[in-house]
Amino acid sequence: GAWTAKIVTLFPDAFPGTLGLSLLGKARELGLWALETIDLRPFGIGKHHNVDDTPAGGGAGMVLRADVVGAALAQARIGTPQDRTLWPVVYLSPRGAPLTQAMAQRYAQAEGMTLLCGRFEGVDERVLEQFGIEEVSIGDFVLTGGEVAAQVLIDATVRLIPGVLGNAESAVEESHSNGLLEHPQYTKPAEWEGCAIPEVLMSGHHGRIEKWRHEMSEALTRTRRPDLWAQYLQKQGKSGDGEA
Ligand code: ADE
Repeated sequence: GAWTAKIVTLFPDAFPGTLGLSLLGKARELGLWALETIDLRPFGIGKHHNVDDTPAGGGAGMVLRADVVGAALAQARIGTPQDRTLWPVVYLSPRGAPLTQAMAQRYAQAEGMTLLCGRFEGVDERVLEQFGIEEVSIGDFVLTGGEVAAQVLIDATVRLIPGVLGNAESAVEESHSNGLLEHPQYTKPAEWEGCAIPEVLMSGHHGRIEKWRHEMSEALTRTRRPDLWAQYLQKQGKSGDGEA
């Protein structure tokens, strides 16, 4: 079957969201990937289907109950491979490992994945251990819930599934695929508000253009992202200090 995202959430209406538009929406209509939501609410306890309760040990906010989330995850797991390399289970959380292009590539190679979206102060830790869940963050800031973060992760992953991007939108030559930020792009008009497109791009000289683009990628990465630049130099077998 097609790569499938199974999303456990209190807000199934948040999906597909932007994942239903443009390239990814078209790819889903074509059956290149699938999205299923599992509403957490029906697994809630009692007449009001409570899904959360106060933190053990005291403190502010509410925590998603282990039994409720566990029952929803058990349902999400039905029909999926037990092997976690074939089927990752991810909890979106600011405590998680920062999402990278390499992680998206790994998720794209699985048969699909389950994403748990939290709200409130988080989820009972025992569930994370029981289900072998990996925590993933989309950045060092705090969202009100995991739904937007799940969409970010799914977008980054699904566009790497074969057939989703056409040749025109190839994922080969883009920021982060080679460890560098992408070079600047220009299009018509050739002159705008007194600013011309760099001469080399109008030269038709493919060798010079490729060289210019590579140099621009390196310069942008060095100045904007010294962290990525240091990694890049290391991979090239060069030292981080002195001339590159
Ligand atoms: N949930 C709340 N904040 C988040 C973040 N930064 N990344 C992933 N999930 C989150």
